[in-house]
Amino acid sequence: MAPDVQELFEAARAVQERAHAPYSRFRVGAAVRAASGTIYVGCNVENAAYPQGSCAEAGAISAMVAGGERHIVAVLTVTDGTELSTCCGGCRQRIREFAAGDTPVHAAGRDGLWATFTLDELLPSSFGPENLPPR
Ligand code: THU
Repeated sequence: MAPDVQELFEAARAVQERAHAPYSRFRVGAAVRAASGTIYVGCNVENAAYPQGSCAEAGAISAMVAGGERHIVAVLTVTDGTELSTCCGGCRQRIREFAAGDTPVHAAGRDGLWATFTLDELLPSSFGPENLPPR
C-alpha cells in the first residue's frame, strides 16, 4: 500500500474502533484527506430511533468542514467482514460535494486495502454544485 493510503487506512482503522453500531453491529471507519494534507476521520453513529443514525463518511466530512476545509483529495473506508463494502449511495453524493470526479475512493477491510475506485466510477454522470445556477 502506498504510504499516503496506509496513513488513511490507519486513521480509519483507529476511528472504526469508536463506532457506535449496537443495532447493525457493522462498524465503519472513514478517513478523508483534505487539500491541506490533513486527515479527518469519522465513524458510524447509530441511534435507537434508527433513521437518525449517521454514516462514517458523513462524520469525517463534517469534521473536515468544521476544520475549515472544503476540498477532498482522497477517501478511505474500512469495514469488517469478508465482502468488499463501498460507500453507500448517500455518502457518494456527500463526497461529490467536495471532491472532483478523479478523486480516489478506497475501500478496505481490517487486513488492508481491497479496492480503489474513482468517485466518477462510484457516482457516474453525477449532479454537483456546478449544476446549479450561480448565486
Ligand atoms: N454505513 C456507513 O457508515 N457508511 C456507508 O457507506 C455504508 C453504511 C453504516 C451505517 C450503519 O450504521 C451501518 O453501516 C449499517 O448500514
